[in-house]
Amino acid sequence: TAMAANDKPLFGRHLVITAGGTKEPIDPVRYLTNRSSGKMGYALAEAALAAGAKVTLVAAAKRDCSTAINLVIAPSAKEMLFAVEEAMKKADGFIGAAAVSDFALAAPFDQKVKKQGDGHLTLDLVQNPDILKTVGQNKKPGQAVIGFAAETQDLLANAQKKLAAKQADMIVANDVTAPQAGFDKDSNQVTLIQENQAPITIGPKAKSAIAKDVIEQVVTILDHQ
Ligand code: CTP
Ligand code: CA
Repeated sequence: TAMAANDKPLFGRHLVITAGGTKEPIDPVRYLTNRSSGKMGYALAEAALAAGAKVTLVAAAKRDCSTAINLVIAPSAKEMLFAVEEAMKKADGFIGAAAVSDFALAAPFDQKVKKQGDGHLTLDLVQNPDILKTVGQNKKPGQAVIGFAAETQDLLANAQKKLAAKQADMIVANDVTAPQAGFDKDSNQVTLIQENQAPITIGPKAKSAIAKDVIEQVVTILDHQ
């Protein structure tokens, strides 16, 4: 059968998507990370590709994905920000699905840290750049900016705050403590938060199915920009 035009609603659009838990170097052999698998970001990239978009996936770590996805590996928050800003120069939208470490070492060690004589080691951490907030602030007319909110309490209130603070068009609010949601699972349950709109709850269901619904909302946002 012939394909209807709206089978590829993102044809001609370019989306930049982040995925994974970032890795912040401690020394040449160690890093600081979190429980995020990157599965949600990869699922969004596949759903955007299926909807006809050109996709740049900036991921902290490599996973299997379609070869048509432009995969850029950027392990740390700073590397991820650099890759995202470069890709956003020619993009129509951004989805920040990565669990970006809020902190990095002020100065990673050049050499492997040895065991300490006194049995203590203190790491000096400084706040990382906020990739989503930076993209939101630099948003050009016509660009859509979508973020996630990983919460363990007060899901909707916290997500609303992030919508405003990051100048995002939508926040995918994720209660990471829900039984079928969150880090390193194949399923998820999310609530889509937009200004002046009723929250939309999706799932629990497979991350691939969640991604399809999120991309459908992104289409609506882009079509109304
Ligand atoms: N994010 C980002 N860069 C950071 C931190 C977060 O781009 N340095 C993005 C995440 O990718 C996500 C959104 O901001 O899309 C929300 O992340 P989250 O950790 O839930 O919120 P934070 O703003 O970091 O606030 P907090 O962790 O203190 O709740
Ligand atoms: Ca955070």
